[in-house]
Amino acid sequence: MLKYVLISSTILGVAVVFGFQGLMLGPGQWLVLDIVPCDNPELYWPVDISRQKINRTHDSFSISMDFDNELNFSYAGFVDAYQKLDGGFKFYQKIESDCTCTFLKKYAKENMERFLANAHYDPPDCPLPAGPFRVTNFVMDYTELPKHGVYGTFLANAYLVYKEEKVGCMKIILNFDERTEDDDDDDDFDFF
Ligand SMILES: *[C@@H]1O[C@H](CO)[C@@H](O)[C@H](O)[C@H]1NC(C)=O
Ligand SMILES: *[C@@H]1O[C@H](CO)[C@@H](O)[C@H](O)[C@H]1NC(C)=O
Repeated sequence: MLKYVLISSTILGVAVVFGFQGLMLGPGQWLVLDIVPCDNPELYWPVDISRQKINRTHDSFSISMDFDNELNFSYAGFVDAYQKLDGGFKFYQKIESDCTCTFLKKYAKENMERFLANAHYDPPDCPLPAGPFRVTNFVMDYTELPKHGVYGTFLANAYLVYKEEKVGCMKIILNFDERTEDDDDDDDFDFF
């Protein structure tokens, strides 16, 4: 769950920030290029995640973890976003939310409710009880993300924070480009 929360909030945070600010704004589509653990993963709650590409607009995620605390409205989060410039990633902006649940509900309501229903949470809403959490082949639809953004490649470190302590972290590489429906599927490259 945490990983999905982090994925969603990262993608959305970056999409929102880069979608409404900056230069070279135009129509296009977001895509996740890679998801990896943050540096020093031993500092954070362990979780397994895998991603499979389906096609240009959809990816499938499988997640497995033991959720040892209830995820409630006390969990905050932030995203450090970097933009790829001149061959390196330059810090761009910090996106903060004092409640990760509220942030997700505001920006990712449909994806999040669908995901939680898939994981048999009823109602599909926070707070999420402690316990084992398994999701296989959850399909994420990138076309639900904002369709205007800054063209480029972005790196985001997303943190889940409880009482000022970073308890979860993941790193996502995202791309926003002016793709069209019939582009070749050539975006599957590794950064790490
Ligand atoms: C991509 O995959 C999704 C999920 O399987 C499907 O709904 C969608 O129609 C596919 N899009 C294309 C262009 O094939
Ligand atoms: C969230 O859960 C923690 C225990 O894990 C509890 O101490 C805290 O009061 C809860 N916060 C809310 C807003 O319910």
